[in-house]
Amino acid sequence: MIFWRLSKRIQLRPVKLCLAGVVRSSFRSHRGLTSQAITSELPTGGAPGGSLDVLGKSYPRDDHSNVPGKILSKVGKNLHNRKHHPLWLVLERVKHHFYQQYVGPFGTPLFSVFDGLSPVVSTWQNFDSLLIPEDHPSRKKGDNYYLNRTHMLRSHTSAHQWNLIRAGLNAFLVVGDVYRRDQIDSHHYPVFHQLEGVRLFNKHQLFGDIKDGEPLQLFEHSSRSSHKQETHTLEAVKLVEFDLKQTLTKLVTHLFGEGLEIRWVDCYFPFTHPSFEMEINFQGEWIEVLGCGIMEQQLVNSAGAQNNIGWAFGLGLERLAMILYKIPDIRLFWSEDERFLKQFCVPNINQDVHFQPLSKYPALVNDISFWLPPQNYSENDFYDLVRTIGGDLVEKVDLIDKFEHPKTQRISHCYRITYRHMEKTLTQEEVMHIHRSVQARAVQLLGVEGRF
Ligand code: PHE
Repeated sequence: MIFWRLSKRIQLRPVKLCLAGVVRSSFRSHRGLTSQAITSELPTGGAPGGSLDVLGKSYPRDDHSNVPGKILSKVGKNLHNRKHHPLWLVLERVKHHFYQQYVGPFGTPLFSVFDGLSPVVSTWQNFDSLLIPEDHPSRKKGDNYYLNRTHMLRSHTSAHQWNLIRAGLNAFLVVGDVYRRDQIDSHHYPVFHQLEGVRLFNKHQLFGDIKDGEPLQLFEHSSRSSHKQETHTLEAVKLVEFDLKQTLTKLVTHLFGEGLEIRWVDCYFPFTHPSFEMEINFQGEWIEVLGCGIMEQQLVNSAGAQNNIGWAFGLGLERLAMILYKIPDIRLFWSEDERFLKQFCVPNINQDVHFQPLSKYPALVNDISFWLPPQNYSENDFYDLVRTIGGDLVEKVDLIDKFEHPKTQRISHCYRITYRHMEKTLTQEEVMHIHRSVQARAVQLLGVEGRF
């Protein structure tokens, strides 16, 4: 994240396209307006005192609290768990890939998946557990959402690494919403989603397949005992780095297909060494999609896995989805617009989705009411019928009123059909033509009695 990259790279490419993915560049905070613009959005923690309630827990406010209500309202939305949402779709594909490729003992998946961990973490989890120094600029109030001095909305899923290793896991994925203060435009949004991956190896797992690998060691034994087990051997580093890069290359190849051009760029994170970013060539432009590296041994040791060496990666799901489905604007992920959401309702997660930009042309709305037949009426039959007749002109169909006649007990439904063309303004005549045939077919096929 911020300031964690080598400044050399920042200077080289100060205006690189940033899709609110994994790593944000430090120049962001130098772009002036950003912090003020968001501060003026009235953080809920303006004055100390009182408390903030998030996901059923209460956090006393203090002079660090700076989460605006707008941001709090995103907590718990979990877009990545919403069926057929593009983030869900990408995530399903990623999970599927890991389940298929990496099988543990007894045929169970090697990687455990955590997608429900609370985005509220302690500052210790978000920073200290990852060896990020007390005075590190990435802790700035201007770049993070603090509930108070001790708790915050996680700024990356790496915040869970330590606890999960401590819990004894040696291969896991963590998915979730992460929060970073930023302006909002087509490529930046203060909430986005990350996927974290961690894999640890003990000596036998790493060298087991190597011929005559028996004497190979994970750690250089330094003469000073206090530094014992902190330096990796060259063989260990080579193998872990190879495994990491191979794992990630396979993953993106699975998502984007063969022929994808990728490159590895050296970078810097306080919790991995060496560290890399993967960039993929998208329509002639190199776009960074993930950060990764070999875990600092001090972190692994302090989490109680001292006989292991490991890798970790963190990737931005929005960034992948934007490239994969050619979604032009990160704000669309938060859209409730049927025209956006319905494009991802594919029966098979691997099906190609060619995202169609939303129409700028106005919608025409017409209602239809009828008495239901005494039996065998299903709302879904009506929806299917409307879509069959109206095709892509039908943007959505909503049941807006139900009514039971007090005397006859007959039930009436009223549906609102929204029509919209992708390339032109529809006329009322054109729409009426379709609407009338919906009426006629509903009577004919569903046995309803029109109240037209
Ligand atoms: N947490 C880092 C970020 O959000 C990405 C990362 C994860 C880098 C794991 C290395 C290892 O910027």
